[in-house]
Amino acid sequence: MLRDKFGREIHDLRISVTDRCNFSCVYCKSADPKNYFPHRDLLTWEEFLRLSRVLAGLGIRKIRVTGGEPLLREGVVDFIARLRQIDGLEDVALTTNGYLLPEMARELARAGAPRVTVSLDSTNPEKFARITRTPRSYEKVMAGIDAALEAGLRPVKVNIVLVRGFNDDEIVEFACLARRRDIVVRFIEFMPLDADHAWKRELVVTAKEIVDAIHPVFPLEEIPRHSASETALRYRFADGQGEVGIVAPVSIPFCGQCSRLRVTADGKLRTCLFSLREHDVRPLVRNGATDGDLAAFMKEAVSQKERSHRINEPDFVQPSRTMVYIGG
Ligand code: 5AD
Ligand code: SF4
Repeated sequence: MLRDKFGREIHDLRISVTDRCNFSCVYCKSADPKNYFPHRDLLTWEEFLRLSRVLAGLGIRKIRVTGGEPLLREGVVDFIARLRQIDGLEDVALTTNGYLLPEMARELARAGAPRVTVSLDSTNPEKFARITRTPRSYEKVMAGIDAALEAGLRPVKVNIVLVRGFNDDEIVEFACLARRRDIVVRFIEFMPLDADHAWKRELVVTAKEIVDAIHPVFPLEEIPRHSASETALRYRFADGQGEVGIVAPVSIPFCGQCSRLRVTADGKLRTCLFSLREHDVRPLVRNGATDGDLAAFMKEAVSQKERSHRINEPDFVQPSRTMVYIGG
């Protein structure tokens, strides 16, 4: 079992399979990154699979494949299919920017239909191009969402990072999307993990503000949580189908219920999004460690999991590794 010193059990693993991304979202990646990891520094698919098997043996139930943009790395579909075969794993999910889904959704469905989450931060094509710093990104991502639905991937979730003054005028528009289409819309509070270091508390649109924007137009009913480690507050529409979620790490921290562990593309275990210290598992993997050695190392790393993210503390320090190198 993986348990930290505060008694939290760890069941969820997020694997960032690449640090590359074809978008440069303003709240995530630098417009001009010059520091991609060389390929030899990335864990191979075999190495990720081995870690995943050992971790499944220690109680990991769910794996989310993320990046960077995971669909950019060759072999990712086969990797997902092989994750599917690991004993004890109940769920495999994928976070993608959606750009390559038109070409890849069918293959993904054949590989075991991971649950997919796509980011879409504006319903306005011109604005979305500015947020992603990529031309025609809106058209591609919308086509990607359609392709995922057509391929039978369910649920399809859409993440929206709200930044005040940028896309907070579109909250109701996104709620309409959740009502109109078979999509779970989730608003995410902006966190201090952006490469540009532009995060300021005033830019965070809080969970309360989001509910206050939607409720007068489309009355909401809270959906009770079905597991303690669920990060999203969930709401259904009182008058019809659809669901919205709000992930509020800044205004309503959920660290006390956190069940997550992350591994980066270059093989570092991160026990928190905001960890200032990483646990380098790559030298073990590459220097003949046994599964038992790996398990012991990972248990020890998890035991040192941080109590909380400390975003709201006066001496908070933003980690040097930004979101694109950690994975959402
Ligand atoms: N704050 C909150 N969420 C972020 N993401 C990326 N950067 C940030 C940030 N600074 C989320 C996006 C994307 C996922 C990979 O991570 O929603 O869906
Ligand atoms: Fe790429 Fe996702 Fe970061 Fe945007 S949020 S730059 S799509 S990793």
